[in-house]
Amino acid sequence: MTDDAIPAQSTGGEEHALSLTIGDRRRNRPEPSLNDPVFHISDLDVWYGDHQAVRDVTMLIGRRQITAMIGPSGCGKSTVIRCFNRMNDLIPGARVTGKVAYHGENLYDPDVDPIEVRRRIGMVFQKPNPFPKSIYDNIAYGPRVNGMKGTMDDLVEEALTGAALWDEVKDKLKSSALALSGGQQQRLCIARAIAVRPEVILMDEPCSALDPIATARIEDLMAELAADFTIVIVTHNMQQAARISDYTAFFTADVDDKGVRHGRLVEYDTTVKIFENPADQRTEDYITGRFG
Ligand SMILES: Nc1ncnc2c1ncn2[C@@H]1O[C@H](COP(=O)(O)OP(=O)(O)OP(=O)(O)O)[C@@H](O)[C@H]1O
Ligand SMILES: [Mg+2]
Repeated sequence: MTDDAIPAQSTGGEEHALSLTIGDRRRNRPEPSLNDPVFHISDLDVWYGDHQAVRDVTMLIGRRQITAMIGPSGCGKSTVIRCFNRMNDLIPGARVTGKVAYHGENLYDPDVDPIEVRRRIGMVFQKPNPFPKSIYDNIAYGPRVNGMKGTMDDLVEEALTGAALWDEVKDKLKSSALALSGGQQQRLCIARAIAVRPEVILMDEPCSALDPIATARIEDLMAELAADFTIVIVTHNMQQAARISDYTAFFTADVDDKGVRHGRLVEYDTTVKIFENPADQRTEDYITGRFG
């Protein structure tokens, strides 16, 4: 692991918490590995109506790895991450071809239950979206619906502790979740996601609405969660991708001869390789801020 700095974007002055060092949040993590993949995505194409938004994505997602997806706006990052738990099913006109194999089973096979898929593969969104309920009920909802065994109080404490929120909320569990700060709400959403004991947590720009201190807390949390969970994160913050992830996928959009933009996976490798020695000029241009 190297201490080379990468080009600065906004760090909000939190030099210590949000440093620019590749792998900063990876200390104490095992070496990156794709030997035990959870997902094997092959020839993935996604259309919205007649528009092919994403073309031909093939990649592995390693178990208990943190995989970052980066690239300019509109290149299809959200579209691709939504395929990993069939969230695109909920968008009218969206159509997916190719294969998203999860432990060898194509999630898009007709006999696969998308509800069960989303229990095993949870999602956290850009804008924290707690239910308008108490903190306790936000966490208890999923375990109740899924008929999970165990004492509910214990499940709630375990999830809130896992999301590094317990100490801040343990005395106000019956208060509205909407009264929490943005950063607390996002950790509540992470607690809600882990409460149903998924294997994978998908995060689409989870920190983009948060200040640098809340962002640092979520990054610390991700590094901790990666001991137990597989994490895929979309981020526009390249320092964040460099700090926390094991693997990085760089996407961009090609413009075809009709002027239509199609998202593509340009380069996928360890985060150190992508940020220190990318193979593709487009990756280098993007991470050095010359493009996008
Ligand atoms: N619900 C939708 N209906 C129709 N087209 C969509 C929809 N969502 C995304 N698209 C289109 O698919 C393409 C990829 O969009 P997507 O949101 O996946 O990009 P992104 O990389 O996540 O961008 P950003 O960084 O701005 O979030 C864009 O051309 C976009 O207009
Ligand atoms: Mg997006």
